[in-house]
Amino acid sequence: MDPEKSVLELASSLARAAGEIQRERYSTRLEIRTKSAEVDLVTDVDETCEALIVSTLEAERPQDAILAEEGGGRSPSGASWRWIVDPLDGTTNYAHGYPRFCVSIGVELEGVRTVGVVYDPLMDELYHAVAGRGAFLNGRRLRVSAETSLDRSLLATGFAYDRRKSERDNLDNFAAFLKAARALRRDGSAALDLCYVAAGRLDGFWEFKLAPWDVAAGYLIVEEAGGRCSDATGRAAPASGSAVVASNGHIHQAMLEVLKGVRRGGGAQ
Ligand code: IPD
Ligand code: CA
Ligand code: CA
Repeated sequence: MDPEKSVLELASSLARAAGEIQRERYSTRLEIRTKSAEVDLVTDVDETCEALIVSTLEAERPQDAILAEEGGGRSPSGASWRWIVDPLDGTTNYAHGYPRFCVSIGVELEGVRTVGVVYDPLMDELYHAVAGRGAFLNGRRLRVSAETSLDRSLLATGFAYDRRKSERDNLDNFAAFLKAARALRRDGSAALDLCYVAAGRLDGFWEFKLAPWDVAAGYLIVEEAGGRCSDATGRAAPASGSAVVASNGHIHQAMLEVLKGVRRGGGAQ
């Protein structure tokens, strides 16, 4: 089996296994704590899912590096593969019983995004992409939307956990896109938002101050579905997730112009 295929199979089975835990524990009593801010939550299910994924990787791929949101992980010297894991993306939704969350696993080979898997357990939707081989949803090939006008576009965004304290709260951009697009959504899972761009359910998505595990799989899935990912000025999308604009490609420039207009007007991003 080629190396990408075995990485994809393991990533898919880990995403399904973690998703199974999320499905079983959904709307049951959770242990909920806060992290960086009062609005930044973590539950025992985030931790259980991460422990399952990290311990399996440690056993099956001892040479690989792992970066996982809740602190599991390691960086053995000379590792070629790196697994970037968000064990539960959409924790606020999960804690409230709002049915939109997922598992996200992106895998880099020598620093290059190579495999991405996102699993939505309630919808039983598994998104995957391998670099150069396309993006798929439950095995069906994905293609971004053909929409060319921002005016007719459905967009999504999100707001960072420091929004109560930071002036860079994304509200100016939200107001500008609310006027420019057909409609906006804020649904609380950046990894799924990216997959929805890939699937043509959304035409575009932007967000600031995300983290590597939010975007590692989603970037590849969008690009392999024919879409474009960049920062807010059109440069390569940072792996850190600090600024993300993802679209079907056709409306990308128009989205960048809206963000530029907000910057020119002195708005905070
Ligand atoms: C969050 C979600 C949310 C986004 C936040 C992320 P988490 O991830 O993706 O949509 O707006 O910025 O941190 O904390 O649920 O894994
Ligand atoms: Ca996340
Ligand atoms: Ca998370």
